[in-house]
Amino acid sequence: MVVEIKQGEPVEKILHVSVPTLATDTRTILLRVYRHNPNARGDEPRMVTYRVPCTKGLTVLDALLWVKEHVDNGLAFRYSCRMGICGSCGMLINGKPMLGCETQISELGTDVVEVGPLTNYPVVRDVATDFTDFFSHHNRVRPYLIRKENGEDKPVEKELLQTEEQKLEYYQFTMCIMCGLCDAACPIVAMDREFLGPQALAQAYRFAIDSRDQGWTERAEVVDSPHGCFRCELAGSCSAVCPKGVDPGMGVQLLKREVLKRRFARP
Ligand code: SF4
Ligand code: FES
Repeated sequence: MVVEIKQGEPVEKILHVSVPTLATDTRTILLRVYRHNPNARGDEPRMVTYRVPCTKGLTVLDALLWVKEHVDNGLAFRYSCRMGICGSCGMLINGKPMLGCETQISELGTDVVEVGPLTNYPVVRDVATDFTDFFSHHNRVRPYLIRKENGEDKPVEKELLQTEEQKLEYYQFTMCIMCGLCDAACPIVAMDREFLGPQALAQAYRFAIDSRDQGWTERAEVVDSPHGCFRCELAGSCSAVCPKGVDPGMGVQLLKREVLKRRFARP
């Protein structure tokens, strides 16, 4: 295999890789990938273009893995399950937050695919981003059932029954895989790094509305704060990018209603 890197192009390197002839499909695409290591002195952000053989069913994650295996094993990105479950492979694909493993190249309708790190997250290296704040916001809303009678750290001792209607109140929010695409699309997260963000707030609603939960007092302190649900201005971009059909934007609005209902509830 021959790899040529053109010299004298500091902003963009073009890698031409000889591609093995494929019996079924010889089409190739150009994969333009953001490269930057903030921890390496003098390393400037740049887009690097790779020519990748495009086989049927090829996903953006497959294309990145092909580059890593055949061209540049230093390329950094995150993934695990390859089936839209773990939430690890969020990235910007042609400018939109998407899951790399769920996005087929053929669906993008272009021969040039741009891949970059999710917006609103610090870059660790290349396409891999730092989710420390995201997980911290998630933890702050106490995303678990709180039961008073046993103490919040102890398991419940008897089955807590629910009707189908009670389950449906929160069910869609249990589909969240914590991929963080919604936070990447949120204009308020972009402005206010302490804003809890649509993912954490939708999860706060998921537990607040669960008939088995008794933790409203603890959770309200966080969600009804200057960086809580009322910071949301209903842009709706969070829901537009969710790959699991969750509507975190609606969750935040329902949480606002819940806060007001309980704030003004008569004793
Ligand atoms: S609400 Fe949707 S976009 Fe946001 S983290 Fe959960 S699955 Fe991802
Ligand atoms: S690799 Fe798990 S969701 Fe994409």
